[in-house]
Amino acid sequence: MPSRYPLMTAHEAASLITHNQTLACSGFTAAGSVKVVTRALAERANAEHAAGRPFKINLLTGASTGDSCDGVLARAEAIALRSPYMSNPELRKQINAGQVQFFDMHLSMIPQQIRYGFLGPIHWAIVEAADVTADGDVLLTSSVGASNTFLHRADRIIIELNSRHPAKLRGFHDLWEPADPPFRKALPIFQVRDRAGQEVCRVDPSRIAGVVLTNLDDETPTPAAPTEVTSRIGRNIAEFLVAELKAGRLPSQFLPLQSGVGDVANSVLAALAAHPEIPDFSMYTEVLQDAAVPLLESGRMQFASTSALTLTPAMLQRLYGNLEFFRQRMVLRPQEISNHPEIVRRLGIISMNTAIEFDLFGNVNSTHVLGRQLMNGIGGSGDFTRNAYLSIFSCPSTQKNGAVSTVVPLVTHVDQNEHSVQVVVTEHGVADLRGKGPRQRAHEIIDRCAAPQYRDQLKAYLSMAPPGHMPFSTKHVFAMHEKFEADGDMRGARFD
Ligand code: COA
Repeated sequence: MPSRYPLMTAHEAASLITHNQTLACSGFTAAGSVKVVTRALAERANAEHAAGRPFKINLLTGASTGDSCDGVLARAEAIALRSPYMSNPELRKQINAGQVQFFDMHLSMIPQQIRYGFLGPIHWAIVEAADVTADGDVLLTSSVGASNTFLHRADRIIIELNSRHPAKLRGFHDLWEPADPPFRKALPIFQVRDRAGQEVCRVDPSRIAGVVLTNLDDETPTPAAPTEVTSRIGRNIAEFLVAELKAGRLPSQFLPLQSGVGDVANSVLAALAAHPEIPDFSMYTEVLQDAAVPLLESGRMQFASTSALTLTPAMLQRLYGNLEFFRQRMVLRPQEISNHPEIVRRLGIISMNTAIEFDLFGNVNSTHVLGRQLMNGIGGSGDFTRNAYLSIFSCPSTQKNGAVSTVVPLVTHVDQNEHSVQVVVTEHGVADLRGKGPRQRAHEIIDRCAAPQYRDQLKAYLSMAPPGHMPFSTKHVFAMHEKFEADGDMRGARFD
């Protein structure tokens, strides 16, 4: 580490930050998330609160983070405002209680919204790095997220230099930002493998206020093993894609895949890879989970473009143990590029994301249970879905031991609307909504996707919906949700 930067403890770095400031921290999932300055900041907040003084910050990141960022700061009640995505249980509780303001944003948009000045000044960028040179070249770690924009735009910078990541990681990242309107040009990514930027993010060294040394793993949890239900969802998607290939609606060389976050998405990817008639594939996505590494090793996945290596520590070390092999097979991009609508549309991506519930029209809710309880956020699902060659949503047909049908007359919150969603999938089957009118869609969804124990009641809703282009009854459209709120079970909802 060059001697020109002040070496600090995490507590010294945290002491530079004042109440009400806006922090932009690295982290896209737990990958590359800051780990020690935020812990020290939480301790500082606790001490300030104990002394009767207010202490809260506004927190921007790439996406979710590890517990050492969102978790510790939430438990210290140190967050006033949060965006664009989170998945921490304590923070979720505070957001849903109205104690923390949260705004949910398409992940591709946060860098440009910062540049446009929509989110106010960024006082501090706190970014994890594998290396920093005397010239100000910052080598990022296991994610890019929005860190390159944070480093360029923040007033001052604190680096967490984490020796757990090798300096030989140089070359994995491809960092650049598009010019802002009215000067933006076509974005020069034409193939999944293309590169258009720098290996490192260059900043003015005088803006680096300090460097804190760390040696810590990313706090990525182990994904749940596939279940019978999630494996069936994956097989249904695989068989659907094979049929599309045979029908000539997908090119024979196949198209790049995007796969969402969570346990369902991880299982779907594993099931796709296991299907013998799915060709070897590439990914153009925002997150790579553990399932991806063995697929790259075996050649089943030919190339991966991502914004984050959301890998368990053992899996990340396996990748780091064979850096030269993976260097030829992957690139880490800013979320502005991994999720960019122009590139997603141009590459013809097959997007596969997860719903909390979807309705008889094809609208999808991925973020709010019962329309009001935030789960995580929209993430990149909208960036991909709206612009995909083929947009697919999946989820189990029921939740909470069958008490909740994920197929409902109308979603209680809309993240993706009927105009963007083309295919919905559960363990029971696939509803292909392309080229179908609203009532045809509704029947297709009930017959192919709804759980058998909910089909009659969904049909009862359809048959009593008054005439009109849409099968919509203002009186009954939320009867299943009302029934769930009344007695914890959607079964037996009535529409009379
Ligand atoms: N009603 C009530 N609870 C529901 C529900 C519903 N309709 N649907 C899901 N849930 C609950 C589950 O019961 C589970 O709760 P638990 O943690 O208490 O067991 C939890 O939500 C997660 O559901 P699960 O089936 O395990 O799915 P998952 O881990 O695959 O996550 C999403 C699903 C939708 C929450 C997740 O994919 C997400 O946050 N998506 C939005 C962001 C996104 O798509 N990003 C990807 C872009 S690349």
